[in-house]
Amino acid sequence: AKSVEEVIDYVFKIVVIGDSGVGKTQLLGRFTKDEFFFDSKSTIGVEFQTRTLLLNRKRIKAQIWDTAGQERYRAITSAYYRGALGAMLVYDITKRSTFDHVARWIDELRANADNSIIVMLIGNKSDLTDKRAVSTADVVEFAEEQGLFFSEASACSGENVESAFLILLEEIY
Ligand code: GTP
Repeated sequence: AKSVEEVIDYVFKIVVIGDSGVGKTQLLGRFTKDEFFFDSKSTIGVEFQTRTLLLNRKRIKAQIWDTAGQERYRAITSAYYRGALGAMLVYDITKRSTFDHVARWIDELRANADNSIIVMLIGNKSDLTDKRAVSTADVVEFAEEQGLFFSEASACSGENVESAFLILLEEIY
């Protein structure tokens, strides 16, 4: 039998999407294990990690799915999005093309995910201030137009990672 401490009130599935190399796997590792690796390898296929936390006195298990951003692995789309209540859509603030592709990722979400999915746009690698290629103000405006939550964050320093996931989970709840 499970002890009272292990009883889960809700399981929330969250998907992490965005171009290859933007830091999806590292954001997930930071949130679930407080880990970060510079020599992260590209994800092959699909993986998920979980973290259980208390939210409004309920035990919520966040089940967070990570997949490869690379086009050649993207044949699994509909199964990946099935049942997802939230999405972290990640770009890299040092690489303009990863932000230019955000609209395509939104299209993919609209085509495959539930209409009510909550989306958080994340500008990752905020620690690399000298290499910034996407201005914060532009993205604030874009996120408002699109009805997305938005935060810059750094999987490397840990800045805003916890808060971004918590905002997403609270909005789902
Ligand atoms: P795919 O699996 O190919 O889709 O990539 P991904 O989006 O999962 O990227 P991943 O997490 O593997 O990170 C790619 C590279 O960026 C790795 O070398 C990471 O160490 C680095 N990286 C990730 N997040 C950050 C960050 O916040 N700051 C810095 N400086 N580097 C980061």
